[in-house]
Amino acid sequence: MASGRVRVGIVGASGYTGGELLRLLATHPKVEVTVATSREYAGQPITNVHFHLKGFLGNLKFSQLSIDQLSERCDLVFTSTPSGVAKDFAPELLEVGVRVIDLSPDFRLKDPSQYERWYEFAHPSPDLLERAVYGLPELHREELRGARLVACPGCNATAALLSLIPAVEQKLIDLDHVVVDVKVGSSEAGMRPTLGTHHPERANVMRPYEATGHRHVAEVEQELSALSGKTVRVALVPHAVGAVRGALATSHVWLVDRSTDELAVWRAFARRYGHEPFVRIVRGGRYPDPKYVIGSNFADVGMAVEQRIGRAALFAAIDNLMKGAAGQAVQCMNLVFGFDEREGLYAPPLRPA
Ligand SMILES: NC(=O)c1ccc[n+]([C@@H]2O[C@H](COP(=O)([O-])OP(=O)(O)OC[C@H]3O[C@@H](n4cnc5c(N)ncnc54)[C@H](OP(=O)(O)O)[C@@H]3O)[C@@H](O)[C@H]2O)c1
Repeated sequence: MASGRVRVGIVGASGYTGGELLRLLATHPKVEVTVATSREYAGQPITNVHFHLKGFLGNLKFSQLSIDQLSERCDLVFTSTPSGVAKDFAPELLEVGVRVIDLSPDFRLKDPSQYERWYEFAHPSPDLLERAVYGLPELHREELRGARLVACPGCNATAALLSLIPAVEQKLIDLDHVVVDVKVGSSEAGMRPTLGTHHPERANVMRPYEATGHRHVAEVEQELSALSGKTVRVALVPHAVGAVRGALATSHVWLVDRSTDELAVWRAFARRYGHEPFVRIVRGGRYPDPKYVIGSNFADVGMAVEQRIGRAALFAAIDNLMKGAAGQAVQCMNLVFGFDEREGLYAPPLRPA
């Protein structure tokens, strides 16, 4: 930190979450971006890919991934790479004292055997899984302060967890029957088009996918189990929708006590989130809609209680690239270095978006 600013590298800087990190860090007063990697665009200015960043970040160019360069030039490295990449080089960075905030799933799960089950690889550094802090500040704020390795949650998992945390903590719902429905925009799938994600195939869809075992289920179950002290199993069905950004979780839950009304659920949310800088409670005939958080790090949460059948729907709306990825990663960075948690992030969403 020679300049007094945290020197930051981004591995996978040409992708969507990497680009969003560059956008946020370009104006962050406590940070200097020193390295941005891309294998495909190495040697080219970042503005050849991220046209919207023209005029920012000097003449920063993409470079190849080099552990030596990252070790010499960074205090902190964000990894915005596909699943299974960061696990192979993050340990080397940690060994030489560089902190790592991973946006991929490689360090989210505590139990190494879960990687074989959900991600089809044997984890090479099980010891690091125990040390990694799950990067949801609303759950792990104190552990994030000073952390060396942060594992940021998936976007669907972030929305699912934020919709459920107050009701789970307050023991309002039956934990044997939790059903989460997530709608998510196309940027979730990253920048490489596939048959399912290429724009003409994806535009205007309302398509369920991975309906019986989306990978984010593993982390949602892990965190809810830790929170409740019992093994929680959830059903989570994501749906691809035509939007570019945004994720909405609707968690269908059954109330333990049928006399629980909407006011009681709202009170649980207000108690839990009242002091959270990036969680807003939406009420009064409205429900959370990702449209009104786009471009921001806010999560809008809300609830609908149907006492007639003892059921509630709990909602959380986020921008998947912000609170679901890069925004949350910067929020974690602020906590890691003891900055104001809102630094570089506290701005209202766009409208219209
Ligand atoms: N998109 C979201 O909404 C979202 C939300 C939360 C978490 N995430 C997670 O964040 C990670 C990045 O997602 P994304 O949407 O930003 O993906 P993306 O748009 O596809 O970008 C991936 C980046 O990683 C680089 N890369 C790919 N393979 C690599 C390798 N083997 N070694 C080094 N660099 C490699 C790519 O550049 P080169 O190929 O040029 O090197 C690119 O810069 C994923 O793990 C994803 O699950 C994404």
